[in-house]
Amino acid sequence: MKTKVMSKDAANIEVADIIIGLINEKSDCVLGLATGSTPLGVYKNLVDASKTGKVSFKNVKTFNLDEYLGLEGTDKHSYRYFMNHNLFDSIDIDKNNTHVPSGVGDYQGHINKYDDHIKESGGIDIQILGIGTDGHIAFNEPGTPFDSLTHVADLAESTIRDNARFFSSIDEVPTKAVTMGLKSIMNARKIILLAFGDNKKEAITRLTKGTVSVDFPASILINHPDVTIYVDEEAAPNK
Ligand code: F6R
Repeated sequence: MKTKVMSKDAANIEVADIIIGLINEKSDCVLGLATGSTPLGVYKNLVDASKTGKVSFKNVKTFNLDEYLGLEGTDKHSYRYFMNHNLFDSIDIDKNNTHVPSGVGDYQGHINKYDDHIKESGGIDIQILGIGTDGHIAFNEPGTPFDSLTHVADLAESTIRDNARFFSSIDEVPTKAVTMGLKSIMNARKIILLAFGDNKKEAITRLTKGTVSVDFPASILINHPDVTIYVDEEAAPNK
């Protein structure tokens, strides 16, 4: 696991450039994508690169990490809406090649097929991750088994509190989500985790200390051969 400390802007440029480089080398690559505040700068840079013709997403396939249970993709708080709004609607991607777990209808049927669908698409080349203050990645909260595949998860109290900023009241935050599991994430060939701001410092310090434990889900990444963590000064680990 490599940790790179730089400004948020520099990290957003470097990570976008890595993704652009991959697409230009392998036009039908598979990207694993996250929502939340953290990847927004990278997505903005990808939109700009698409608009200036630096890259084409025409054959790219994407799989998102998670979706709130019970929210339709048209709901402004859903992660499908977030992805359309912040990335897919502004690049030349085929929407049929974009996958976000379904949180409605036969979501269980969809869950059962999600990991196979990723595998059949060639497997994730680069997985983008944020991290929760409690060490969650996707919605794998503390205690999630390391061999978990896509499943329905209960959100931790701290995650509901953290995510309330996107809703008009904390009571509106769904308490469950469909999420790729820890094993699903570990199957990616390359993983890039981003963390910005002092509220992530404690989690990054714990992650880089190196103890692998189900109590701190992100620690599973220590066992992956190709993980790079990009942090700004505020989120940089305590020595
Ligand atoms: C979102 C996701 C979550 C977030 C995490 C950090 O798809 O999987 O694990 O990455 O909650 O969220 P932000 O970036 O809003 O701090």
